[in-house]
Amino acid sequence: MKILAIAGCRNKDGKTAQAMEALLQGVPREGNQTESVFLPERKIDRCHQCEDDGWGRCRTEGLCEIVDDFAGLVDKVKQADALAFSTPVYFGDLSESLRAFLDRLRRTCSHEVGKKGLIEKPAVGICVAGGGGSGAPHCTVSLEKVLGECGLDVVDMIPVRKQNLDLKKTLLRTTGQWLAAYADERSVSD
Ligand SMILES: Cc1cc2nc3c(=O)[nH]c(=O)nc-3n(C[C@H](O)[C@H](O)[C@H](O)COP(=O)(O)O)c2cc1C
Repeated sequence: MKILAIAGCRNKDGKTAQAMEALLQGVPREGNQTESVFLPERKIDRCHQCEDDGWGRCRTEGLCEIVDDFAGLVDKVKQADALAFSTPVYFGDLSESLRAFLDRLRRTCSHEVGKKGLIEKPAVGICVAGGGGSGAPHCTVSLEKVLGECGLDVVDMIPVRKQNLDLKKTLLRTTGQWLAAYADERSVSD
């Protein structure tokens, strides 16, 4: 199984990265591969709303015409067996880098070509409120909505705040273990 983790944070030692790493640590090594992508390192522009009606080739062809790292990352997402999306909580919502990626992804999923390889793929969301600690539950609602619009099977959403990060790491490791087993089971029954 290949588990791909996509993080909307810049700090690779920060709380969001630690939470994501805990999930990946739970994935059994044997028979599984994991990879992490930090979105702020990638060039992912925001949607250009190409035509006057607000749509573009996303609607007619299931692809985005902006030339940047988006298409390569979408290929990685499609090749993975399970996904984990993590974000620091900003204003009770997703970080800008994750928002930019998912906003474009859900548009391409309005077309059959864009949807292919994403439908019913298991995905977990992790939202880490590292300031006062408020906003993580709201952020999970926002993340679940956009992941669902991409056609993914959102199997879990995990709100974390800095005060309970250590406790949640235990849960995240168990979730990583479960996610790999679930993706495996799913691929056998497909
Ligand atoms: C623009 C911005 C908005 C933020 N909004 C919130 C918030 O609503 N609630 C909260 O607890 N922390 C908030 N924070 C703090 C981030 O959640 C915190 O920096 C982040 O979880 C730390 O993540 P990192 O250690 O992965 O970098 C905000 C930080 C920034 C930069």
